[in-house]
Amino acid sequence: MMTTRIVGTGAYVPEQIATNDDLARIVETNDEWIRSRTGIGERRIATTETNSYMAAQAAKQALDQAGIAPEDVDLILLATSSPDYCFPNGACEIQEQIGAVNAAGYDISAACTGFVFALNTAHAFIQAGIYRTALVIGSDVLSKLLDWTDRGTCVLFGDGAGAVVVQAADRGVIGVKMHSDGTKGGVLTCGARTNGNFLLGKKPELGYMTMDGQEVFKFAVKKVPEIIKELLEENRTSLEEIRYFVLHQANYRIIESVAKRLKADISKFPANMEHYGNTSGGSIPLLLDEMNRKGMLAPGDKIVLSGFGAGLTWGATLVEW
Ligand code: ACO
Repeated sequence: MMTTRIVGTGAYVPEQIATNDDLARIVETNDEWIRSRTGIGERRIATTETNSYMAAQAAKQALDQAGIAPEDVDLILLATSSPDYCFPNGACEIQEQIGAVNAAGYDISAACTGFVFALNTAHAFIQAGIYRTALVIGSDVLSKLLDWTDRGTCVLFGDGAGAVVVQAADRGVIGVKMHSDGTKGGVLTCGARTNGNFLLGKKPELGYMTMDGQEVFKFAVKKVPEIIKELLEENRTSLEEIRYFVLHQANYRIIESVAKRLKADISKFPANMEHYGNTSGGSIPLLLDEMNRKGMLAPGDKIVLSGFGAGLTWGATLVEW
């Protein structure tokens, strides 16, 4: 049966590095606290780069690697919660920057789960025979949504983008799984611009990120192992068959705890948040591209991608490389 194969990967991170020591100069924190609780040592912060610029650079790399011309892309899905504009959507900006003139494009908003939701959506289109080639990109500039006086959140995030090109093929995605729980939405929020129309007689206000860290932690370490088990059971695949678990890079302690609960070896859980922090929608494809370019992935390897975040949302994809 026709499925969806990842045929190219790419990534982009902003030039500017901000270390934990740099943040210790703006809020009451220190390198030891951040590293021991999160595994994060530094992150990239966008100064001149826009969300769509980062996304387009990652997309171009992925297309180059796949040897696919931009005109051959049918669909562009951008997973983001920090687009440059309310409209046009980011996918249309990317289309313009890379010259993917024949593609339809739109954004998917599911925070740190966005990339997995977008990949699963592209898979549905490909499996249905509607499209053949799609670009799936995760890109976020969360630095513009952070309250830089809140040490509980500002130390955790960074900016970055990653992309994959997917194509109809006879091997690739084996199974997908997605969940949402809107009743828990309040534990991780970022308000949009508020209504400030003339009848209300006030100006719009801008929202910033708020998070109940411990609730997010509990959610992640419970739901991620659960969804991975469901995904593997449904697709009659054992944990031992999985070469890598490519998880959203929020926090190394979450990853350790997921590995422990799954009783899977921690060496199967690659991580790069030490250098990039939590890049939200960008994190999974950023890590996947790093693994791909290091030659860690061989044809036939089975990997699980799993994202989790605001919504609350969580999802997973089982892929044969
Ligand atoms: N530096 C120093 N101290 C800090 C900092 C900081 N950056 N941030 C918080 N503290 C303080 C708190 O004020 C608190 O002090 P108090 O006891 O005097 O009030 C103390 O540290 C403990 O705070 P907790 O919130 O209980 O710390 P905890 O050990 O839970 O660690 C953390 C906080 C790292 C956020 C943790 O809860 C966590 O990892 N949660 C997961 C959140 C996450 O990964 N979110 C990512 C976004 S969501 C996603 O991508 C899915």
